[in-house]
Amino acid sequence: MPRMKKSLNTSRKMLNKKTKVVVDEKKSKKIVVSHVHKEEKKEEELNDNKPRYSPRLLRGMRDILPEDQIVREYLVKKMIKLSKAYGFKKIITPILEERALFEKSTGMATDIVEKQMYQFTDRGGKKVILRPEFTPSIVRAYIEHGMFNMTQPLKFFYYGPVFRYERPQAGRYRQFYQFGLEVLGSESPLIDAEIILFSQVLFQNLGIQTSIQINSLGCLDCRTLYKEELLKYLRSQSKGLCPDCQKRLIKNPLRVLDCKMPQCQEITHQAPQLINFLCPNCKKHFTKVLECLDEANVAYVLNPYLVRGLDYYTRTVFELWPAVSEGEEGAKPSQIALGGGGRYDTLVESLGGRETSATGLSYGIERIINEIKIQKVWVSRGKCPQVFFAQIGESAARQALRIFNDLQGRGIRIVENFAKTSLKSQMKIAAEMGVKLTLILGQQETKDKTIVIRDMKTGNQEKVDVSKLFEELKKRLK
Ligand code: HAM
Repeated sequence: MPRMKKSLNTSRKMLNKKTKVVVDEKKSKKIVVSHVHKEEKKEEELNDNKPRYSPRLLRGMRDILPEDQIVREYLVKKMIKLSKAYGFKKIITPILEERALFEKSTGMATDIVEKQMYQFTDRGGKKVILRPEFTPSIVRAYIEHGMFNMTQPLKFFYYGPVFRYERPQAGRYRQFYQFGLEVLGSESPLIDAEIILFSQVLFQNLGIQTSIQINSLGCLDCRTLYKEELLKYLRSQSKGLCPDCQKRLIKNPLRVLDCKMPQCQEITHQAPQLINFLCPNCKKHFTKVLECLDEANVAYVLNPYLVRGLDYYTRTVFELWPAVSEGEEGAKPSQIALGGGGRYDTLVESLGGRETSATGLSYGIERIINEIKIQKVWVSRGKCPQVFFAQIGESAARQALRIFNDLQGRGIRIVENFAKTSLKSQMKIAAEMGVKLTLILGQQETKDKTIVIRDMKTGNQEKVDVSKLFEELKKRLK
């Protein structure tokens, strides 16, 4: 017994000394094979001291995997189709822009510019940012390309990623996608109504219930008067405001109205309303917008506290909220706007362009996708493949690509899995894909320039000449 104990202890020591151990499965015993080579051990020790790198997604960022593409593509396709039907043309601007552009447009005192921009100095010493929104870039492009010389208004649509260093939470990411519309060169209230109507049509097409919230911020003159009144009121309530709003009170009191903190909302919902301070021209403009919306049967909610979180707005502003009753899905509608926009009549001029009225909107793609899931909306999966191409043997593999490419080029929705070599596994994939027909190209077929067409429903198979294959498929796919 004592001898046995000693040998166990020795084994333990050896194990601690990094010995290699294998398991003899038959005897179910652990056998020490050898001591790890001295150099190998040194290397392992070195590696142990190194912090191990394991790649990880940055916080607030998301991978969009193949299975996530179906809904996204369906949504964006619908948006593009509707935009084109309304006469909008696509514009692409760079993701990287000068920091000053956003400081001068989105506004120095906004959360976006103050706290949320991804900014750095490039190798040439320029201060640049990853765009936190599109509107300033579209205006920059409009000015830089002298687009005011073209027939106005100009109508653009865009789609792409934007970046905001926000605290990640449900529906709030650091990289997200926006789809948007901008109309430059028109002051008409009809244009405001048009893009709001666009939103109603889009969400109706998608089957998503939304509530359109609308307000007018007036022009700079109306706002000067209003700001004084608002400031008077907020100062009297300042103790109840959150620390951020205490600062906003000094920098830009209008931003207090945009705060989502419950204690601030309680105060702001008793504040004087901007709509009562509109000058006659702004009042007339807003009345016309509402009349156009009524005429077009657009349902909206007048929301006197809607100010939006960006500095460039004048007159009409609006947001699209999911029409869920408060408390449903655990979020208040106001905190998960699916889109928003408004008029910005002074922005072009303030960035050095000619006096140009403009209006626009942007939707948050991820938020709409979430809403599609919450409201369990039906999404078309697109057109399914019709034909599967199976090949067996080397000579078939050589010819497969040519025949496959030819059929695809002629409009047949054909798929393959050339990585598989056995007929059984290829037939299994074809069945899973739900195709109507499978083409089978084997050794014999390559010799006599034929191919087998299998009807997946009946199991019937027929050999046809490769030269007649396209016509045969067309007949059977009718
Ligand atoms: P915005 O309200 O800042 O407006 O953003 C538009 C939409 O982007 C929001 O309604 C929301 O759906 C989505 N969004 C915003 N932040 C996030 C986030 N962190 N994560 C996910 N989605 C988000 C603008 O950007 C203006 N440029 C709209 C505009 C165009 N105004 C005139 N023309």
